[in-house]
Amino acid sequence: MIPVSSRASTIEYAIRDVVVPATKLESEGHNIIKLNIGDPIAYPGLPTPPHMVEAYRAGLLDGNNGYSPSYGLPDLREAIADDETSKGWNCSKDDVYVCHGVTEALQIIFAATLEKGTKVLAPGPHYPPYMAYPQMYGASTVEYALKSDDGWSIDLDDIESKMDENVRLLVLINPNNPTGNVAGEDEISKLLDIAKKWPNCMIVADEIYDALDFSGKQVSVASLSKDVPVFSLNGVSKVYYAPGWRIGYLAIHDPTDVLVDVRDGIERLLRSRLCASTPAQLGYLAGLKGDKGWMNDYLSKVQARRQLCLDRIASIDGIEVEAPGGAFYLFARLTDDIWANDDKQFVLGLLHEEHVLVVHGSGFSPEKGAGHIRIVYLADLNTLNTAFDRIDAFLQRHRSAKK
Ligand SMILES: Cc1ncc(COP(=O)(O)O)c(C=O)c1O
Repeated sequence: MIPVSSRASTIEYAIRDVVVPATKLESEGHNIIKLNIGDPIAYPGLPTPPHMVEAYRAGLLDGNNGYSPSYGLPDLREAIADDETSKGWNCSKDDVYVCHGVTEALQIIFAATLEKGTKVLAPGPHYPPYMAYPQMYGASTVEYALKSDDGWSIDLDDIESKMDENVRLLVLINPNNPTGNVAGEDEISKLLDIAKKWPNCMIVADEIYDALDFSGKQVSVASLSKDVPVFSLNGVSKVYYAPGWRIGYLAIHDPTDVLVDVRDGIERLLRSRLCASTPAQLGYLAGLKGDKGWMNDYLSKVQARRQLCLDRIASIDGIEVEAPGGAFYLFARLTDDIWANDDKQFVLGLLHEEHVLVVHGSGFSPEKGAGHIRIVYLADLNTLNTAFDRIDAFLQRHRSAKK
């Protein structure tokens, strides 16, 4: 047997790992209600806006099928820079680098900033790649706590206690996946005050859910930073409802010009991987330039689905949740003792017995996510009602079986 690298054999991505048993059940003829994946297109009523699809298609038909410049199409870089500037900081098109989604942007940032022995400080629980990728560069991820009893707000004391000269990247996912917490201006300013004490520390501001904010608190980290360098991450996947296009970006905010060498490294890495998809960039451009009135209709739909889930959870014994401020996730606590340390077993049991698929909280952090499940609440209201009926039945059955 030819050995696999240890780097590949240890990678996990809980959100898709649970799909394997679900696919098996589907192949046996069962219908599964899938509330596991943060892909709005997987659910009815939230299609990619037609004017964006049209621009993508026109791009194909007009022959825009070649490589684009490595940092992105100039018009798209300009439109992204204008959009970031509208969020409160001075972003020029040269600060914007278009990637194959935020996922590739993260890999580029990690490759350009991490070395053996360095650290990434990321929220726990968090979106899995923040744990999976840094180790590929010899670095490690250290979790800082989100407060599970305070709406999953960031624990600034915990961050302060974990900072040292090896922390290169301090991550804020805002709104957060999986908890939906939104950090506001006051918390972000305090986070920047902490980061400022460490001259090698840069902030990764993953703002991919920024327009899915129900709290009214969301604010760009770059807009508040006067001295700490910030990588602002965003793209077409969530707010523009086109995750399969694989387009995102990193925008560099470098108020004290300390990222000259890092920027050069990022540009080298980007050139070495050629470019992001050209026609998909045209689709995103249409989204940024076009009328955004449609976003309010989409937001109302998402909000109605969120409210239904909150109401249903409030009336079911064995599950409770901190109401999320943004994104489209609920990170719910399993309150029956049997599940407190076995959320994965809950997920597998629910899948096999009730054909409802959610993700185990420990997949987002073995320590800080245990005893929770993540529910994507984008399905239509009927489907959500059915899913909660089944969750309720499952909880009751196992509670009485234990007695
Ligand atoms: C916090 C966060 N960042 C990034 C991504 C992936 O972004 P992209 O589709 O642009 O690669 C996700 C997807 O779920 C996410 O939740």
